[in-house]
Amino acid sequence: MNVGQAVALGIGIVAVLSSVAIFALAWRREQESIAVGTLDKEARKAAPRRPALRAATATQAPTVTADEPPAPEEKPAPKSAQVVELSAAEYGETRRQFLNRATGWSFGAFLAFFGITSLAFLWPRLQGGFGGKIDAGDITEIKEAIFQPDGSIEPFYVAEAKTYVVPFDESVLGSTAFAGLDVVVEGLTGLWQKCVHLGCRVPWCDSSQGFECPCHGSKYNAAGEYEDGPAPRNLDRFALEVVAGRLIINTGQVRDTPRATVKTVPYPQGVNCL
Ligand code: FES
Repeated sequence: MNVGQAVALGIGIVAVLSSVAIFALAWRREQESIAVGTLDKEARKAAPRRPALRAATATQAPTVTADEPPAPEEKPAPKSAQVVELSAAEYGETRRQFLNRATGWSFGAFLAFFGITSLAFLWPRLQGGFGGKIDAGDITEIKEAIFQPDGSIEPFYVAEAKTYVVPFDESVLGSTAFAGLDVVVEGLTGLWQKCVHLGCRVPWCDSSQGFECPCHGSKYNAAGEYEDGPAPRNLDRFALEVVAGRLIINTGQVRDTPRATVKTVPYPQGVNCL
């Protein structure tokens, strides 16, 4: 995982943790509000008036004369009247609370969405980006693309893996520097496009049937074996495997080998590009 991926992953994790923290804080505040009976602004205004009203009513004792019949005893208000007297805040459903909750949930949903999206964006790269295993395609189709009708070859370029897939004669593998390495499968090998001298991308030269570096003139044959120039070794290559008929390039496993003393293909086969 490169630096950019690590930073993006960190942002995603922070976003998810932030959303969790916000939800936890909102839930805790709501629980505290319920526990202590917190009232909203409207309820706090209304609350002090109710005891004062009751006190004023109590001090106004009815005056009863001898001729008047006693006033009928005041009956307690029906329960339905008490329900009407409670403010909406006492049920925790005021407009302010609703808006606060809606804002919190919206913000939390945004952060969660951002975090999940970031992880979803990174996940395939963690699995298959450069530095990991990359599916180059159906191995039969790759071979068909490499071998040309006139007998020449055209490397199969896998951009995501920065790799040229080229043929390799397995019958002579044991006598080469690649013997015992996991870099040849079903007659193919995968060359890293980076020149082993100073890192320039090495292009393919169709006429000479080799790789010729434009930076300082290093040359390699079609199997990536050193031929000429300041390069200290053969082109590096990646570990390969075939899974369910598909060529898998493991760009996390780089194999380097010394300059070839035994060449498996002739070079040049025509005019050089450099
Ligand atoms: S970088 Fe290729 S020859 Fe120097």
